[in-house]
Amino acid sequence: MNTTFLKACKGEQTSHVPVWFMRQAGRYLPDYQRVRSKLNFLDLCKNPALCTEVTLQPVDIFHFDAAILFSDILVPMEAMGLPLEFHEGQGPVFPEPVRSQQAAEALRIPNPAEDMPFVLETIRLLRRELKVPLIGFAGAPFTLATYVIEGGSSRNFYATKSMMFQRPELYRLILDKITACTSSYLIAQAKAGAQALQLFDSWAGALAPCDYERFALPYVQSILADLRKHTDIPLIYFANHGATLLRHTSGLDADVLGIDWRIPLADAIRQVGPHAVQGNLDPLALFLPKTELEARIAAMLEDGKAARGYIFNLGHGVIPETDPDQVKIAVEAVHRFSSRSKQS
Ligand code: CP3
Repeated sequence: MNTTFLKACKGEQTSHVPVWFMRQAGRYLPDYQRVRSKLNFLDLCKNPALCTEVTLQPVDIFHFDAAILFSDILVPMEAMGLPLEFHEGQGPVFPEPVRSQQAAEALRIPNPAEDMPFVLETIRLLRRELKVPLIGFAGAPFTLATYVIEGGSSRNFYATKSMMFQRPELYRLILDKITACTSSYLIAQAKAGAQALQLFDSWAGALAPCDYERFALPYVQSILADLRKHTDIPLIYFANHGATLLRHTSGLDADVLGIDWRIPLADAIRQVGPHAVQGNLDPLALFLPKTELEARIAAMLEDGKAARGYIFNLGHGVIPETDPDQVKIAVEAVHRFSSRSKQS
């Protein structure tokens, strides 16, 4: 078992810097496209055998030091009773967005074992196959709320922010329910065998820091506190566009903070407090010529030495246009440069 990832999460010494990529399974991989061509995305998410296969693909091909469960952050929102559709080329759509007291009250708190058994089954299948740790995940409440309140992706979050400011009690009811759902979902993933858990807060950076503190942070704190009561596996919090929020997130009871690419790694490390750090190569840097990509990775590994623990990752997900050969170059560079620098 390769435990470098788990050790780095806890700030322990490792033989090399562990690396995994957000969205490491997905459309940039021909093997994924082959599986995906047979069924739609949500049906794929509900098929444990195929989810297992696509989770393993990037680990087998590139030798990542961790696997991330193949699923989507919106799966539990469907289990809360909201019809969910993924439209080709458009992303997720909730045809019945939650904008009224009645719709909020109708949201149910799912029982993960009954309502999302396929996720837990995928975790159990993966643990039999994997020789690297398995990361489970969920969306953070604010990010999930933007999808269910807007009805899909959004540019300026008008529906969410206007609800936050004009109907705070309704906003809080929705967030409380999403928070309860997320806690029990992540606890169920840990019980099924997930060895670390990541909360994705993809839209946190759209909030002014004062609003983040009131309308997003407390729900993250509540989930982390709940998880600490039930499991001792590493907890990772990733706020995309989160550099402006580090003053708040550096106080979170997570083991690892994920960092996006808009801040120099060294600056982020100075601000993260007692956390290990995960990140933060620009996903588009995978389009650099090989020597420049490698130089950038070498510089990040140098900066990463100052962290309590360092996990190499992108600053957000791999984009579908990425050349798999460039991913290979990046993973190999992390492994080669970091084991060499440990000897010197
Ligand atoms: O490899 C992995 O990272 C594991 C699988 C994973 C997916 N989505 C698969 C996926 C994970 C961890 C996610 C998280 C997720 N989903 C987030 C948080 C991370 C982030 O990107 O900010 C968000 C915001 C979503 C919601 C979501 N899912 C959107 C907006 C989209 C459409 C955009 C797109 O990339 O197509 C999805 C679809 C999705 N999720 C795909 C995959 C592989 C593409 C689906 C396809 O095959 O057509």
